[in-house]
Amino acid sequence: MLNKLFLPTLFLSILGLFYLNTAFAEGASPSMLADTCLGCHGPDGISEGPATPTISGMSELYIIGAMLAYKYDNDEDKVDEIIEADLDFEDVEFFARTSTVMNRIAKGYSEDEIKTLAKHFSEIPFKNANQPANAEQATVGSELHETHCEKCHENGGSSADDDAGVLAGQWVPYLEYTMADFASGDRDMPKKMKKQMEEAHASSGDEAIRDLIQFYASQK
Ligand code: HEC
Ligand code: HEC
Repeated sequence: MLNKLFLPTLFLSILGLFYLNTAFAEGASPSMLADTCLGCHGPDGISEGPATPTISGMSELYIIGAMLAYKYDNDEDKVDEIIEADLDFEDVEFFARTSTVMNRIAKGYSEDEIKTLAKHFSEIPFKNANQPANAEQATVGSELHETHCEKCHENGGSSADDDAGVLAGQWVPYLEYTMADFASGDRDMPKKMKKQMEEAHASSGDEAIRDLIQFYASQK
């Protein structure tokens, strides 16, 4: 799934990140801070795909929750301590997440910088990935979404207001490995989401996840 350029790009991005981080550690502007993210997440945080997610247009709370879980390697007690110590973090929810690179990257940022980054990316509108979708599977997925997911992922998964990410228009390979991480238990989800995933699976079998993902991919 990873193309040949991925590792070299990754290496250069990480090098760049450390360089920029030491060069501008003091008093960096929001866009300067965010610059280091764009090598992987794409110009303006709109990913050119396919395994790196678009991060713009997600809610501040969601981005902060993700960054804290990465930064503290899913140490729930530590993250709870950070959340309790800062009123700005009052409504942040902790969910453990899998990470290939973000755990290392997030450690380079203070809590204040994480707030700045979250505000910055939340203010840039999400842009749907330009990718093909299977219309038949998307139709089945649309019904599954309505029954099992819409409650917390409103407007067909396009709303950021639920603080649950943005699903509509996100890259298919990213959604595929994310759903695999949820299914294996490597990434945490709310109990009610787990129940709905199980119900979707019970009603539509192994195709349920594929069809849901095609529904998200079909939204242009
Ligand atoms: C080296 C490439 C790379 C860089 C640089 C990078 N990211 Fe990421 N990011 C990823 C990948 C890959 C993922 C998926 C999780 C993983 O595998 O670590 C991700 C996931 C995320 C997520 C979770 C998205 C979701 O939908 O749940 C957020 C938020 C995020 N990154 C924010 C940032 C911010 C902010 C920066 C800059 C400070 C940044 N990233 C820099 C590669 C990168
Ligand atoms: C009870 C509310 C709830 C329900 C129901 C729910 N979700 Fe979620 N979902 C969440 C929350 C909260 C998160 C964010 C978890 C985190 O911060 O890591 C999330 C995250 C996700 C993500 C990861 C997004 C990303 O950018 O990495 C995917 C994919 C997802 N949900 C798919 C689904 C699907 C498909 C369904 C229906 C079968 C569903 N969810 C039902 C609350 C819900």
